[in-house]
Amino acid sequence: MDDELPLQTSALIWQNTQHQTLFKLIEQIKEVPFDPDIFLQLRLYTEHHFLLEETYMRELGYPGIDDHISAHNRFREEMRAMLDTDPSISPALQNSLSDFLYKWLKLHVLGIDKQLEDFILQSKSK
Ligand SMILES: [Fe+2]
Ligand SMILES: [Fe+2]
Repeated sequence: MDDELPLQTSALIWQNTQHQTLFKLIEQIKEVPFDPDIFLQLRLYTEHHFLLEETYMRELGYPGIDDHISAHNRFREEMRAMLDTDPSISPALQNSLSDFLYKWLKLHVLGIDKQLEDFILQSKSK
């Protein structure tokens, strides 16, 4: 299974690229007129990204797996709730939902995702 995962030597390109896509989708929540599909797109892409990180954690026996998956699950809950957002949402609410998700993702990426990245890179270089 490990052989099927993309190999990286100096940085986790897939992780960085996927994070950039997530930030872009989160920014799109602010766009006027509001795109009612944006939360679904964000949820699908988030799931794709989380599952890849979780696959690495399982494959490599990552010690912080439980806390990391719990953090992903909290975000999954937020996303699920946002799927019910009324399409006639106000620009002010668009901004506040987008800002909330942006801040959450930024903290996550700079915190436990960075720790995971370091662990994966260390494992790959062994
Ligand atoms: Fe991530
Ligand atoms: Fe993560």
